[in-house]
Amino acid sequence: MVLERIQDVTLVVFPGVFQPGLFFSTPLLLDALDHLRLEAGCSVLDMGTGTGVLAIFAAKRGARVTAVDISPLAVRCARVNVLLNCLEDQIRILEGDLFAPVGDERYDLVVFNPPYFEGKPKDWPEYAWRGEKVLDRFIGGLSSHLTQDGRVLLSLSTELDLTAIKYELSRNGFEIRERRRRRLPGEMIFVYECLRREPMSALEVKPGLKLTCDEHGCEPNAYGKR
Ligand SMILES: C[S@@+](CC[C@H](N)C(=O)[O-])C[C@H]1O[C@@H](n2cnc3c(N)ncnc32)[C@H](O)[C@@H]1O
Repeated sequence: MVLERIQDVTLVVFPGVFQPGLFFSTPLLLDALDHLRLEAGCSVLDMGTGTGVLAIFAAKRGARVTAVDISPLAVRCARVNVLLNCLEDQIRILEGDLFAPVGDERYDLVVFNPPYFEGKPKDWPEYAWRGEKVLDRFIGGLSSHLTQDGRVLLSLSTELDLTAIKYELSRNGFEIRERRRRRLPGEMIFVYECLRREPMSALEVKPGLKLTCDEHGCEPNAYGKR
């Protein structure tokens, strides 16, 4: 077991659970989350919560958080971290595949730092890296789990088929805004904010659509390796 400190939050990382401080993707998402306006009491879904780190930072901003992970190791770890940070009144941790544990609940914000590689994981730790059509299934379920003005913060990498993912988001009615990017050796990682727009015909959306980059975007920051 590893003890990790991120800003003012102390986390335990159980064996087999994604260690956020070792990688770039979690800090990049935390930075994007930090700059996002969150109404007090808003509802947040932390998909694939791992240690619970994103859930904890959202709760510390006043959100009511539901966190989901398919790995029982992660669920156990996240529950301990919620208790350690005295946030049990604001965060509940559920075990299961993507949206299955939350039924038809809707959220003001969904955050997801997904596995980047395709394929069947051989054990629980590997679920942090690999999954079967995880992003396709996640994007397919988004609309029915967001409130009217609901938004998504999603970390993606050039290890993924970004054109296909952006096309799928667009086809499902989302406008995509780049919020963060980080260049790594042989890889680039991004945080995108996805907002609902009026559904448009798939024929109107071309793969490789141009993305906007606002004043918060494109600044190299954060730390880690992923
Ligand atoms: C890259 S880790 C991110 C962990 C944490 N959110 C962070 O940023 O530090 C991905 C997490 O998603 C979980 N996961 C993978 N496939 C999932 C699925 N189908 N449903 C729910 N969680 C899943 C993994 O178990 C892992 O904890």
